Amino acid sequence: MRKKIVAGNWKMNLTLAQGEQLINDILQAGLTLKEGQEVVVATPFPYLLKAKALLKNYPGFYVAAQNCHSEKSGAYTGEVSAEMLQSIGVDYVILGHSERREYFQESNAMLAKKIDQALANGLKPIFCCGEPLEVRQAETQNAYVAKQLEESLYHLTAEQLKQVVIAYEPIWAIGTGLTASAAQAQDMHAFIRSQIANKFGREAGLHISVLYGGSAKPGNAAELFSCPDVDGGLIGGASLVAADFVSIIEKLS
Ligand code: PGA
Repeated sequence: MRKKIVAGNWKMNLTLAQGEQLINDILQAGLTLKEGQEVVVATPFPYLLKAKALLKNYPGFYVAAQNCHSEKSGAYTGEVSAEMLQSIGVDYVILGHSERREYFQESNAMLAKKIDQALANGLKPIFCCGEPLEVRQAETQNAYVAKQLEESLYHLTAEQLKQVVIAYEPIWAIGTGLTASAAQAQDMHAFIRSQIANKFGREAGLHISVLYGGSAKPGNAAELFSCPDVDGGLIGGASLVAADFVSIIEKLS
């Protein structure tokens, strides 16, 4: 009943021509997605329209932005609103990625506003959470992630929450080659699901897709995706190589 999703986060990589080639190579693989499976490509802003056009005739393939602003509109030079993204047909928006939190000072409270903007404009947020290494070493990761969920998502209604996807991305695993073990991922995903169920009800907990992110690759995706509470992945580095991204998508069960 839950959507299974593999989302590629290109971050600040590739030119338009390279991005177009990447999408075409992914499509060339002729993947057949099963019912309830989705592939999401999160490109830089300037390529979203193009990506949307390339994926137009491919059911199950969607486009995501990597961010949106917390306000509706106005004097915010250089920023992009959720309404603008909706107006060009974007489906998803990644919010709260650890790089945004670290380099652009995005707080849980600011992310709550971004979530509201996304939902008000028909975008489905992929809300990222996850702990830094020192928190994992102190074994306080559950409380850390619980606070992120509470401060950015708990003001929503259960109905609104249905549009939200969560991505658990332990910061110590992002771009480092270190992956959470399947057991570590499963433990945290089950914890996240239980928190959501406690706050929004059992149905909401069962319904929400929780993706794993952090050095996911063809060699570890099958094991991660086989965990009962892991509903796919948010893929950084490996999403830039068509063969790797396709291989990861093929690991969805
Ligand atoms: P990675 O990035 O797969 O390169 O570790 C994941 C992410 O940042 O979403």
